Amino acid sequence: MSEASPSGAKPGVDIPADCALQAEALRFAYPGRAATFDDISLAIRPREIVCLLGGSGCGKSTLLRVLAGLQAPSSGVISFLGAPLTEPSPRSALVFQQASLLPWLTVAGNVGFGLDFARQPAIERAAHAQRVRQAIAAVGLAGSERRYPAALSGGMAQRVALARALARQPELLFADEPFSALDAITRAEMQSLLVEVVHQWHSAVLLVTHDIDEAILVADRIVLMGGQPGRIVREWQVDLPHPRLAHAAAIGALRVEILAALLGERAGT
Ligand SMILES: Nc1ncnc2c1ncn2[C@@H]1O[C@H](COP(=O)(O)OP(=O)(O)OP(=O)(O)O)[C@@H](O)[C@H]1O
Ligand SMILES: [Mg+2]
Repeated sequence: MSEASPSGAKPGVDIPADCALQAEALRFAYPGRAATFDDISLAIRPREIVCLLGGSGCGKSTLLRVLAGLQAPSSGVISFLGAPLTEPSPRSALVFQQASLLPWLTVAGNVGFGLDFARQPAIERAAHAQRVRQAIAAVGLAGSERRYPAALSGGMAQRVALARALARQPELLFADEPFSALDAITRAEMQSLLVEVVHQWHSAVLLVTHDIDEAILVADRIVLMGGQPGRIVREWQVDLPHPRLAHAAAIGALRVEILAALLGERAGT
């Protein structure tokens, strides 16, 4: 592991061609409120898993929504796949803490649902069915296609939510604490599954979490957000091979370092 130099280039610097997403000098304020975050620059490379860590209320979810095009920044620019981002892209997908499945649709219906959105490129029926089948298999739910959400455990529902996102074959997956409502064992399973499937699917990921262990287990790079307004205060490159649990000593040392930085941030605000 090594501490990376902050990845954000200064405004005016050309966007590197090898970035999936590049944000420059982002500022965001809710109406009538002081800025939630300011001067945030962040680049995500293709296939890179970036975890955004930070204390509660520091603006992680707001930043994720802005980077996903769900909310416009107050200032700053975002480029996604080389083009300015002004609305959510069909080449990205989102997963949240709650699976938010439609109760009247089956597992397959829920997974296929996102493929029919207006901005999603039209695909033929056979390709549609194949994508749904592959995504369900990737999350380990083959055979459960006809089940309804009411008959699924929380972990299974979150697998369906992940499959729904994967079926869109996103270049970038945004995930906001997707596993925080799950029990420890299911969460660990989902963390491994996430790494496995995004490697298979060649997607980049921006994962918001306040779980240091989760960040260390899945991330290629950990970005720590803190301060008021929120800024990126530190980054770590995590070079350990997967599965990470085999590297307990290195994980322990990094965990202590990140925890100290997080506590230092909170003490300073
Ligand atoms: N719709 C809103 N209108 C006004 N203020 C908001 C809104 N949503 C969030 N905030 C405020 O913006 C700040 C950042 O919130 P945000 O949800 O982005 O934090 P977070 O880092 O994701 O927190 P957590 O870890 O608890 O999920 C908080 O002070 C919050 O109260
Ligand atoms: Mg949040």
